[in-house]
Amino acid sequence: MTDSARFLDERRALVEGAIAASVPAGRPAGLYDPARYVMEARGKRLRPLLTLLAAEAYGAGPEIALPGAVAVEVFHNFTLVHDDIMDRAESRRGRKTVHVQWDEPTAILVGDLLMGVAYDHVARLPAHALARAFPVFGRCTARLCEGQILDMEFERRTDVTPAEYLDMIERKTGALLACALELGALAAGAPDDALGNLHEAGLEIGRAFQIQDDLLDLTAESEEWGKPVGGDVVEGKRTWLLLEALASVDRAGADRALLERVMRREATFADVPDVRALMERVGVLNRTRQAVIFHTEAALQRLSALPDGPAREALSGLVRSMQRRIR
Ligand code: IPE
Ligand code: IPE
Ligand code: MG
Ligand code: MG
Ligand code: MG
Repeated sequence: MTDSARFLDERRALVEGAIAASVPAGRPAGLYDPARYVMEARGKRLRPLLTLLAAEAYGAGPEIALPGAVAVEVFHNFTLVHDDIMDRAESRRGRKTVHVQWDEPTAILVGDLLMGVAYDHVARLPAHALARAFPVFGRCTARLCEGQILDMEFERRTDVTPAEYLDMIERKTGALLACALELGALAAGAPDDALGNLHEAGLEIGRAFQIQDDLLDLTAESEEWGKPVGGDVVEGKRTWLLLEALASVDRAGADRALLERVMRREATFADVPDVRALMERVGVLNRTRQAVIFHTEAALQRLSALPDGPAREALSGLVRSMQRRIR
C-alpha cells in the first residue's frame, strides 16, 4: 500500500466510526431503524473525506474537522433519500430505497431527521468557525434544493441548454462538494482567499462528478452501480448525455424519434440498450468522458494552490480516482 493510500484509509476509518455513531438506535423504531439503514449502507464517503483533507491541508488535525465531515455526509444521505422519492428510484447502494422498503412518509421523515442531525454536527465545529460555518451550510442547503427543483422542471422542457444544465448541477451537486471543502478549511481557520479557491474547486469537482454520474447511469454494470441502470432515461432526465445526443442527431429520423420518446418520458427500461447504442454510435459517450476529464483537470488546477503536503496529495489523488470510479 502506498503512503497516500494508507493516509486516505486512516481518514476513511475515522469517518466511518463517526458516521456509525451519528444516528443511534432509538424509538420509535419506525423512524430510527430506516435512518440507521441509510447511514449503514456503504457510500463512497467522498464528501467527508474532502472536509478532513481540506482541514489538514490548512494545518488542522482531522479530529478538529470531524463534526463537519459527519455533517456533510449525513446531509448528503438526507438528500439521497428524498432524491429517490423524486426520481422514483427503487434501489441505491445495492439495496431497496427507503420509500420502497418502508413507504414515502417514512422516507420524508427520515430525510428530515437526517437534516437535523447534520445541523447538530455543524454546531460541534470549533467555536471560532461557527459564525461562518452556519451561513455556508445554509446557503448550500438552498442551492441544493434549487438544483433539485430545476432538475425536475427540466424534465418538462424540450429546450434545456448545456449552460442551464451546468447551472443546475452546480447547485444540486457542486454546492455540497464545495461546502464540504469549505467547512474543513473553516475548522482549520484558513484564510479567506483559500475559502474562495476551495469553493471553486468544489464546483469543478461537482461538474466532473455529476457528468460522470450521468454517464455511469447509462453505462455501469448494475451490481457495481447499486442504482437502476438507465434510470435517467426512463425518468426523462435532461442529462449531459441527452443534451449532447440531441445536438448530434439529425432533425428527423429514428434516432431523433427515440430521443423524443425519452424526453416525453415514454421510454422504458427495455429501451435503455438502444439509447446506449445510439449514444455510443454518435460519439456522445466519448465526448462525455472528455468533459469529465476537463472538469477534473480544472479541479486539480485549483487544488494545486493548496499548501504542499500529504493532505493535498491525498486530495488530488481522491479527485483523480473519481474518474475511474464504477460506483
Ligand atoms: C450520489 O452521490 C448523488 C450524486 C451527486 C450523483 P454519491 O455517488 O457520492 O453517492 P454515495 O454516497 O457514494 O452512495
Ligand atoms: C443527485 O442527482 C443530486 C442529489 C441527490 C442532490 P441524481 O438524481 O443523479 O443522483 P443519483 O444518481 O440518484 O444518485
Ligand atoms: Mg435526482
Ligand atoms: Mg436520483
Ligand atoms: Mg444520477
